[in-house]
Amino acid sequence: MRDKVLSDFLDAAAVGLAVTTGAAALVAAEVVTRWQGRVGGPRGGAERLPVCDWIAPAVAAHPGALAQSFAKLAPGLRWQRRASADPRDAAFWNGHANALVLGPGGLEERDDVWLGVTVMVPGTLYPDHSHPPAEVYLPLSAGEWWNAGMAWTDPGPQGFIYNPPGILHAMRAGPEPFLALWFLPI
Ligand SMILES: [Fe+2]
Repeated sequence: MRDKVLSDFLDAAAVGLAVTTGAAALVAAEVVTRWQGRVGGPRGGAERLPVCDWIAPAVAAHPGALAQSFAKLAPGLRWQRRASADPRDAAFWNGHANALVLGPGGLEERDDVWLGVTVMVPGTLYPDHSHPPAEVYLPLSAGEWWNAGMAWTDPGPQGFIYNPPGILHAMRAGPEPFLALWFLPI
């Protein structure tokens, strides 16, 4: 059994993923099938970073059902910096945090899907990275995404971004705080 806050959030995420089309819709269907088919183990121990102060204003700016459901879940997550973040790069070090809702070390421990979230201070650039699984982002705020096959794009809080498997990609916050969910079958 999942607790109600997580269960409600996952239901809202499944509804949110219905905006996807094409290859992104296949990724969406896969991740939803996996989390609906099996409940992973629980994990305790929330962690917070100062950048989490930007979650509430991001949700307030675009208070959709998914964002509001996420806001209830956020305090229970383990917020961490990207493993490669360097404290000498203060803008990035202080400007971002990630947390896993589902996945290794996530709120629900599992090895078949990553459902994560990134929050960023206005103006922060999240550097180029890549990973073997395809990825779908659901923005909960304004923000811009880039990949090696796509110019910088802001799909808006009702849109989505699809990154094909292995492609180099990045994201950045504009003048508003950045908040986005990411979904990967692994
Ligand atoms: Fe990614």
